[in-house]
Amino acid sequence: MSKPKILIQFDTDPKASVFDAVVAVDAGVDHLLQYSGVRPEEIRDLVHGAMYTRGPADLKNTAIFVGGSNVSQGEAIAAAAKATLFDPFRVSIMLDSNGANSTAAAAVLCAAKHHPLEGATAMVLAATGAVGQRVCQILANAKCNVMVVSRSLDRSTDCIQKLVANGVSADRLHALTSSSPSELESQLQRCQLVFACGAAGARLLNASQLEQASSLRVAIDLNAVPPSGIEGIDLMDKGTQRGNRFDYGALGVGGLKMKIHKASIAALFQSNTQFLDCQEMLAIGDQILNGTK
Ligand SMILES: NC(=O)c1ccc[n+]([C@@H]2O[C@H](COP(=O)([O-])OP(=O)(O)OC[C@H]3O[C@@H](n4cnc5c(N)ncnc54)[C@H](OP(=O)(O)O)[C@@H]3O)[C@@H](O)[C@H]2O)c1
Repeated sequence: MSKPKILIQFDTDPKASVFDAVVAVDAGVDHLLQYSGVRPEEIRDLVHGAMYTRGPADLKNTAIFVGGSNVSQGEAIAAAAKATLFDPFRVSIMLDSNGANSTAAAAVLCAAKHHPLEGATAMVLAATGAVGQRVCQILANAKCNVMVVSRSLDRSTDCIQKLVANGVSADRLHALTSSSPSELESQLQRCQLVFACGAAGARLLNASQLEQASSLRVAIDLNAVPPSGIEGIDLMDKGTQRGNRFDYGALGVGGLKMKIHKASIAALFQSNTQFLDCQEMLAIGDQILNGTK
């Protein structure tokens, strides 16, 4: 008889996320062990507790989820957990701090339904945030040319350096600041895809800028808090066609995001050797859309 599925939730916030806990239960986890306010230097001993309690054959029924609102801390926790493991005492790990991986994967998969990514040009507004960085990564890895937009050119350049350090091709990434609206509008004219990844309630594009960009085929706004990140896109838009363009709002992307999150948790228990980060969760999302998951 197989052992119960245990998910160990490492959360960097003072209180572990209720949202992540509910999704874990809905994904079929039998027991959820929550650790909040977790710091990288504490991880080794915590992970040892996961490695040595069940025999190697049963370790696929133990897994680690890393969450919390601080994505850099989450990355450090996940890296520390991964570095602690060795054969044959491995458990699978998933990183989805602030929902950044599942959200970015869902947003790009929504866009890809309407326009091929390879060879396309995309503008990622507020690309410096956790979600924006991952949208840039997925697009560039799919051979899309990406305009990495920030209010500050320095932050855009720093963001590109971070992406390149993570293995993304520098040739695909172009720094741009939104501080010059005329330059932003001129560059937007060249884009087929635009993603607004700004902080809650930040308006990044107005309706006339959107309408002037006649080459756009997909516009996606991930901000759920009024005012919308892109004026004219509704929270509920889910591939809403307006002229030649397909629009998505935050809730329109949110359904696929939830499916990816849940399916990724379930996938953790298929083997004890997985590390689910942005690209792996993108692949799971792709399988969901293809009907193979
Ligand atoms: N639909 C979903 O399922 C889902 C899930 C998770 C997150 N989200 C949403 O996705 C968006 C991105 O999340 P995130 O965690 O990456 O966001 P974030 O880190 O809070 O902010 C992203 C970027 O927004 C820019 N920004 C901040 N304040 C601004 C302001 N007042 N005006 C203009 N720009 C501003 C900053 O870029 P610069 O300073 O470089 O310009 C910042 O790096 C959020 O709206 C979040 O709520 C949606």
